[in-house]
Amino acid sequence: MQPNMLKPSRVKTLLLLLSLTFILYLIFHVSTIKAPSLSDSLAADIVSRSPISRCHVLFAIASSSKSWPRRLSYFRLWGLRSAIRVARVVKEAVDLTDESDGVRWFVFGDDDTVFFVDNLVKTLSKYDDNRWFYVGSNSEYYEQNVKYSFNMAFGGGGFAVSHSLARVLARVLDSCLIRYPHLFGSDARIFSCLAELGVGLTHEPGFHQLDMRGDLFGMLSAHPLSPLLSLHHLDAVEPIFPNMNRTQALGHLFKAVEVDPARILQQTVCYDRSRQLTVSVAWGYAIQVYEGNESLPDLLLLQRTFTPWKRGANVDSHFMFNMRDHPRDPCKRPIVFFLESVISDKSDVLSNYIKHFVGDCVRAHALENLELIRVLSQKVELDVEKVVMNWFDMLDYGLEMESPRRQCCDISPTFNESMTIQIRQCGLDELISMHF
Ligand SMILES: *[C@@H]1O[C@H](CO)[C@@H](O)[C@H](O)[C@H]1NC(C)=O
Ligand SMILES: *[C@@H]1O[C@H](CO)[C@@H](O)[C@H](O)[C@H]1NC(C)=O
Ligand SMILES: *[C@@H]1O[C@H](CO)[C@@H](O)[C@H](O)[C@H]1NC(C)=O
Repeated sequence: MQPNMLKPSRVKTLLLLLSLTFILYLIFHVSTIKAPSLSDSLAADIVSRSPISRCHVLFAIASSSKSWPRRLSYFRLWGLRSAIRVARVVKEAVDLTDESDGVRWFVFGDDDTVFFVDNLVKTLSKYDDNRWFYVGSNSEYYEQNVKYSFNMAFGGGGFAVSHSLARVLARVLDSCLIRYPHLFGSDARIFSCLAELGVGLTHEPGFHQLDMRGDLFGMLSAHPLSPLLSLHHLDAVEPIFPNMNRTQALGHLFKAVEVDPARILQQTVCYDRSRQLTVSVAWGYAIQVYEGNESLPDLLLLQRTFTPWKRGANVDSHFMFNMRDHPRDPCKRPIVFFLESVISDKSDVLSNYIKHFVGDCVRAHALENLELIRVLSQKVELDVEKVVMNWFDMLDYGLEMESPRRQCCDISPTFNESMTIQIRQCGLDELISMHF
């Protein structure tokens, strides 16, 4: 949804988008569960509700011949790296449902949507695809939601429709679209048709339409606890890492995504009580070191490093989340360390972050020589399989994912040029604060 681009020619192009829809089958094999003691029919029923894998998800990417060559570099990052088979079709994506093809979810996106496929697959497996689900997220930009709907899944952020709903949607789409010829994007049309079918949006905060410009730092360094599912509009923002172009920077993020997708951007906060330091880690991206005592609720606020999608002097800049100021003076900001490299060995992960030089700022003595931060962590398992302990749980298979809890971390007791941080599960009643 790009409000500045509402020219008629643009609308036409968009209407032609589906003629260039790219259908991507994800080709990893179904991981079926072992249930030898169960009768065949029950086993079949359980398998049909087993967690989905990549091969059950079909991606339909709206593109135009004009934008595609430019966007191919983003697509390659999540598409080809995920071993996705690409096919071109000229039919509307929702019309392609066939019960025999094993597709359980249809995911729609734009050619500048970057998907985090593993996280998406795990997230969708929380929902029963035999029921009607429309899963996505609205815009971060308040005015866009006022204009379209707070309950619409914005197409750039991507959204998913369960196969059972998609089949019905395909049947009624033409008749319902007649009533919405004025609507700009296919996402608004689908939203309207789904509303007529009586289906509402299931909100998943990991989808990011990113109706914003400038520096995404504030957004990426305070991601919600749910897994990162998509990023959009990366052409409109600055490269997400310094001293890299956009493609390089995104590729750099994917080095971490490939090692531990579920942890990417997840925020962990730890305190150094003796030196009075607060450290906020956005895993796989950046670490901020604050001098003094910053409370966790403050660190969860997004630093306003970005501007609204709409440009101009009289533009409202209301976003859908709570924010805090990002000081203009770089010396008043925390020291930032950006991801340098990630190494993994089975479930152990070491990620390194190097200091981003912003000028000669006077810092606390303890931080004078600090150049590198090493972070030790364990791969995050978002697995729903853990809940399969007995028969009854098995019937709920795929409908549960452990509710996420932020992890805790510890800072090495001494450090000079490099600091080591260990991320771990918090104790049962452990609080994340600078208390003694
Ligand atoms: C970005 O940098 C890479 C590596 O230096 C280069 O191959 C690529 O052409 C650059 N892309 C753009 C759009 O400048
Ligand atoms: C840190 O700040 C919080 C509130 O902002 C306060 O309750 C707490 O006592 C402070 N802790 C220390 C060690 O200064
Ligand atoms: C800390 O690092 C600095 C700069 O590299 C070095 O000169 C100093 O000797 C180190 N201090 C200790 C205690 O190792």
